[in-house]
Amino acid sequence: MPAHRPAPVPLPAHLSWRPGHFTLTRDTAVRTSPGAGPAADLLRTLLAPATALPLPPSPDGTVVLALDPQLRGLGEEGYGLTVGPDALLLRAAHLTGLLRGVQTIRQLLPPEALSRTPRRGTPWRLPCAEITDVPRHAWRGFMLDVARHFQPVSLLRRYVDLLALHQLNVLHLHLTDDQGWRMPVAAYPRLTEVGGRRAESMVGPAGSTGFDGVPHQGFYTRAELTDLVAYAAARGVTVVPELEMPGHARAALAAHPELGNDPGRRLDVWTRWGVCDTVLAVDDRVLDFWRTVLDEVMEVFPSPHVHIGGDECPTTEWAASPAARARAAAEGLPDTDALRGWFLGRIGAHLVGRGRIPTAWAETGEGLPPEFTVMTWRDPEHTRMALKRGHRVISCHHRAAYLDYAQSADPAEPQGQPGAVVDLRAVHGHELPDDTETSGTLLGVQAELWTEFAATADQVDRLVFPRLCALADRAWHGTTPWSGFHDRLRAHGARLAALGVRHGPLDPYAPLPHRSRKEQS
Ligand code: ACM
Repeated sequence: MPAHRPAPVPLPAHLSWRPGHFTLTRDTAVRTSPGAGPAADLLRTLLAPATALPLPPSPDGTVVLALDPQLRGLGEEGYGLTVGPDALLLRAAHLTGLLRGVQTIRQLLPPEALSRTPRRGTPWRLPCAEITDVPRHAWRGFMLDVARHFQPVSLLRRYVDLLALHQLNVLHLHLTDDQGWRMPVAAYPRLTEVGGRRAESMVGPAGSTGFDGVPHQGFYTRAELTDLVAYAAARGVTVVPELEMPGHARAALAAHPELGNDPGRRLDVWTRWGVCDTVLAVDDRVLDFWRTVLDEVMEVFPSPHVHIGGDECPTTEWAASPAARARAAAEGLPDTDALRGWFLGRIGAHLVGRGRIPTAWAETGEGLPPEFTVMTWRDPEHTRMALKRGHRVISCHHRAAYLDYAQSADPAEPQGQPGAVVDLRAVHGHELPDDTETSGTLLGVQAELWTEFAATADQVDRLVFPRLCALADRAWHGTTPWSGFHDRLRAHGARLAALGVRHGPLDPYAPLPHRSRKEQS
């Protein structure tokens, strides 16, 4: 691609360059069709900090944003963009498609357009082009674990903008875990008052013996979360809440010991990393607790999908509990291990009754009713099994999507989750099975950042970028060649710099000096 041509990440499905360019100036005005106003507002909001362009509405505007039912074939998110020397025309059948096109307009401008501070003197030029764009996968997500380390809502808003720039459409918030509860629940204030704070944190990976002696705490207000949902919606991003059960629930148990298998026992919010043996009891009070909590969650988060965790639930406490054994027998279950699926099924039914889609981590691809959307993470085979069982599936395979692993074997890498290296190429090459011969649906793909080793915004950025760019290319376009992505990513570095995003190496596969051009292509 010639140097003067922008290199979008992700790559649009169909892009043809044309001669000439279109320039945005102080005189450029925007014409919108009925219903397209929010896309024009987003364009103005996003371009204002760097360009200070007013882009006023006008029936004679040369930037045209139009809802056009003729583009229905491009679906909810598809759009057409024509940049000519005298006009720019963005069309889509739905508002979401226009929001995607706005992000492409940003990427066609010089990288300075993404700056958060004024960049006077830059000509705001876009090369002429014809783009017809539609995503390969409907679900293009990023999960942030705010339980292990809390992050202020300002970081979440910044990430919504970064997701939207990369045409990603889901921010999945892992809001509760053994080490912290971050969502306020009016019916149970102790969840955040007690569960939102831990005394200290383990230093090093699970099983380490050192602790930092530093309390860690934080939780969101309901207003912050409500505002975040609206902020994300204006950018075409859905915020999906996750509340973990029946394992990974130690923070809830610290606040409410009566929900445990030994109600007399006092527990702390967990200060360790790893899988905690303490899990919730399986009685009706616990189910009622979750129904109340989730009803409040659904008031704040309109997302169709509501994630209830379900992973890594040791069953030793249930096996030892007469009440749990009696419950398993009364429900006709073969053993106490089956209580996990039973528990999730009961809570899932509550969500279905409220018109939502229960979502959980797939442990083995077994044990959940088909109405669950599952996130497969352990093994690509689980993705295939879940599709055969008829689930909607999001692939989160840890070796291609877990950004808490190191991105290279370089000893200078910051501390990450031990056990694997997830490099850029692995993320870009995320293997996704075909769902056509199954009764299930492959919804898409999602990256996750578990934050045992990411306490600060700087650490979060450096683990997430540039790997999230590779996921975005994979999720939106499908399969672009690695070499082309790699070239685009190097150019994309100027955009990340303009945005102030700190990142890991953009160029871990620099061509060896003696490779011929043929080998590199
Ligand atoms: C997981 O990584 N425990 C979903």
